[in-house]
Amino acid sequence: MNPPLRVLTGITTSGTPHLGNYVGAIRPTVRASRRAGTESFLFLADYHALIKVGDPKRVQRSTLEIAASWLAAGLDPTQVTFYRQSDIPEIPQLTWLLTCVTGKGLLNRAHAYKAANDQNAAAGRDADDGVTAGLFMYPVLMAADILMFNAHQVPVGRDQVQHLEMARDIAASFNHLYGEHLVLPEAVIEEAVATLPGLDGRKMSKSYDNTIPLFAPREQLRRAIAGIVTDSRAPGEPKETQGSALYQIYQAFADAGETEAMRRAFADGIAWSEVKQRLFERIDRELAPMRDSYEALIANPGRVEDILRAGAAKARKLATPLMATLREAVGLRDLRALPIERTGRAAKHALPAFKQYREADGRFRFKLVDAHGKLLLESPGFDDPKAAAQAMARLRERGAAALHEAGGALRPASGVDADQVAAALDRIAEAASGDRQ
Ligand code: TRP
Repeated sequence: MNPPLRVLTGITTSGTPHLGNYVGAIRPTVRASRRAGTESFLFLADYHALIKVGDPKRVQRSTLEIAASWLAAGLDPTQVTFYRQSDIPEIPQLTWLLTCVTGKGLLNRAHAYKAANDQNAAAGRDADDGVTAGLFMYPVLMAADILMFNAHQVPVGRDQVQHLEMARDIAASFNHLYGEHLVLPEAVIEEAVATLPGLDGRKMSKSYDNTIPLFAPREQLRRAIAGIVTDSRAPGEPKETQGSALYQIYQAFADAGETEAMRRAFADGIAWSEVKQRLFERIDRELAPMRDSYEALIANPGRVEDILRAGAAKARKLATPLMATLREAVGLRDLRALPIERTGRAAKHALPAFKQYREADGRFRFKLVDAHGKLLLESPGFDDPKAAAQAMARLRERGAAALHEAGGALRPASGVDADQVAAALDRIAEAASGDRQ
């Protein structure tokens, strides 16, 4: 059997979920999470929220509402890994490791950052006016979200494709430098899922302020739908489905038969008020049971908190060991695991050593000093430098044994005992044999 395909996606906790989020993200993702052979990772991107939202209450409220929406829509936290980004301390740690292999130029080219620059230029302001380093770093944090779990696929909208390309680039840079540790993720662009029109007919989006909250109470949903734009055709006049926001929203909830019936009703001149009533009933039929679960969860934030913490514990079972491997890979290591080096500058300095010299009387001698330069042994004077060198070489090669052979000719310096000299000679002999290997 193939290893399961790991699919991961994040939702920024910066607002209240609306019908467009449900149709475009929540519903398809919950369905996909039930597919066999896939492992789903879903998380609340609350660190990302801080880039846009400076209101702590709003971040907290949004986290609760989004978590409750996903759960109410049928996400099963025992079947998927559902967690909150800020509960995973390894994510900001990985963000830093990735920051250090990310070209600043790569981030300069990010669409969101460039758009902020362009807006400033158009307004005659400094290019980086009001731009935080958080906005600039957004793609690196997002790469860490994905790479932390070695996700294979990331379902995203078109606007996020560049972020996925950057995550791949960043992973490749890391792997190039430190070895193949990170999986290069793939963007999966959701062509099939509908984008829903909002109250004014443009795409339903927080930024247009034209949204219908997903779990608004029944009567509020009815009123919101009553406010959707239509043309001015009177009851009895045939109506166009093309370009009708009501029709498009209906289609996103209805099955093929229901949609066909509505198309005919349009041709037959159904009144707009009647379309609105049918749309309300159709949406409410799908959402009413979920709304009950949603309200129960909102009334019990402790339950949501527990679910998220359990999800974080599950996620960290993967994040913690991967982070340990990555720390090791980059050199953030336990010093006790350092092998005792027998070669190289530092090792040579740490060894006892011989020093040769010529005295004022013209005779040749050598000394043995320890690693700190303390005198351990001084040879008698030799007339012939070769004889001095040979005596030294014997000691170097044969260690303490050569000391014994020399009998009384080689004596430890005052205050040094023979064992210390013998140990120093053994260390030199050992290091020399290590060098030869
Ligand atoms: N940037 C995503 C958005 O705005 C949210 C997000 C953060 C995300 N981290 C992610 C999506 C990781 C997918 C994978 O929609």
